[in-house]
Amino acid sequence: MRRLTVWLGTVVLCWALQGLAQEATPWGAGYFPNTALTDQDGQEVHFFDDLIKDKVVVINFIFTGCGDSCPLETARLRQVQQLLGDRVGRDVFFYSISIDPLSDTPEVLKAYAARFKVGPGWRFLTGDKDQIDELRRRLGLFIEGVDNGRSRDHNLSLIVGNQATGRWMKASPFENPWILADQLANSLQNWKTPSSEQSYALAPEIRPPSSGEELFRTRCAACHSLGPEDGQGTGMRSVGPDLLGVTQRRERAWLSRWIREPDRMLAEREAVAVALYEQYNRVAMPNLRLNHQDADNLIEFLEQESRRQGAQEQARAGQAGGTAAQ
Ligand code: HEC
Repeated sequence: MRRLTVWLGTVVLCWALQGLAQEATPWGAGYFPNTALTDQDGQEVHFFDDLIKDKVVVINFIFTGCGDSCPLETARLRQVQQLLGDRVGRDVFFYSISIDPLSDTPEVLKAYAARFKVGPGWRFLTGDKDQIDELRRRLGLFIEGVDNGRSRDHNLSLIVGNQATGRWMKASPFENPWILADQLANSLQNWKTPSSEQSYALAPEIRPPSSGEELFRTRCAACHSLGPEDGQGTGMRSVGPDLLGVTQRRERAWLSRWIREPDRMLAEREAVAVALYEQYNRVAMPNLRLNHQDADNLIEFLEQESRRQGAQEQARAGQAGGTAAQ
């Protein structure tokens, strides 16, 4: 009986969803403003007509002077972009809109995109501040008191959707990039196109993580790899240095402070911080507001993982040596 109810419920839900998909969405030209924006190449566009109408899109709001959440979001989206390959710009569109348009001119945005090595099909946009704030309100990404307060500590603001079907969802930049890519390539497209080449089904299986590992995946992995065979196996986290063996390269106190306040160390022009900053394309590592305990957990995880991979490497070398000797 219970099964039948569930089954019936599913059928009714499917009908309802189909009905919705066929009906025009209430979130059309009457809802979204047609805000005039300029992209990083100086091209002028209108938000509704040119950017979202009949498209599957990812939209986030950033400012290039932001030292915490935006670089993480940009790095994460860059991974999603890489997973989607040439579908970006064809049937999935990426837009990063500046909330600080006075500073973020098209030239500044172009340089920012280049620093993060973003691929084609991803537009960085600027425009009139009041109109952009209104757009954020319409997208449900503006929190009164936080976003118009003094601090520019803005809401982590990423939204993905399909304008034609009216399906919109907020997403977290801490999300696994494979999940975001899967939403964009498949569920938001109503599964009409075959899955992107690197589908979520290929995502490596994930063991239950320790707290340090969890922090690493959600806060660090968008920018850092950890050896050739780390977690998500995407091999494309080159914003910052690979962190395998970093606990041997650096003093523990240095590491702990760096993880908690890299921005301050750079501001104090600490020698290693400055050298790394220059070496890594002048992308500053963000201050992710972690505490001592978080830093300890992260360092422990980095150490463990370096040991684990080191042991594997040795075993492989031993085997290879054995074969050669035969
Ligand atoms: C937005 C990208 C980004 C994120 C997110 C990020 N980092 Fe970094 N990290 C960098 C960059 C870039 C550098 C190189 C220094 C610089 O440019 O500031 C760096 C440098 C480092 C270094 C120094 C490496 C060395 O060779 O000495 C460590 C350690 C480090 N990061 C740890 C972390 C940890 C732990 C996290 C997560 C809590 C994290 N990073 C999150 C971008 C990032």
